[in-house]
Amino acid sequence: MEKRQAEEMIELAIRQMDFSYVPYSHFRVGAALLSKNGKIYTGCNIENAGFSSTNCAERTAFFKAVSEGTTEFTAICIVGGKNGVLTGYAAPCGVCRQVMMEFCDPDTFEIILAKSKDEYKIYTLSELLPLGFGPADLA
Ligand code: THU
Repeated sequence: MEKRQAEEMIELAIRQMDFSYVPYSHFRVGAALLSKNGKIYTGCNIENAGFSSTNCAERTAFFKAVSEGTTEFTAICIVGGKNGVLTGYAAPCGVCRQVMMEFCDPDTFEIILAKSKDEYKIYTLSELLPLGFGPADLA
């Protein structure tokens, strides 16, 4: 991942937090998902009075992309914090890691966790979801 590409994704993810619908937790999350063809799909978290109907920012981005015919990805950037203040790294929940497992190569897909444009860490999906169960297991 080139620094310029990571910075662009961080900027887009941070901007997405403006759209987070978070009347219950006030925890804003933004995501920017890079597809193999270079297009970036963004997403925010969308909460619901029936809490379990909440959709995470990462899944919003994935489902936007897949619903438009894009199913191959190289990286995702995730930012989040209470009221949109980035005090720490916002790691993806287990459900979102599993959605990544469906569409991404766990050994190469990069997950950028950012606090700012200059403060970020990069993990592979297999680091965050060891021994993940995916499409290959059903082949
Ligand atoms: N959230 C995400 O958007 N992504 C994650 O991976 C973790 C949690 C959201 C869901 C909910 O709106 C808020 O953060 C608090 O859980």
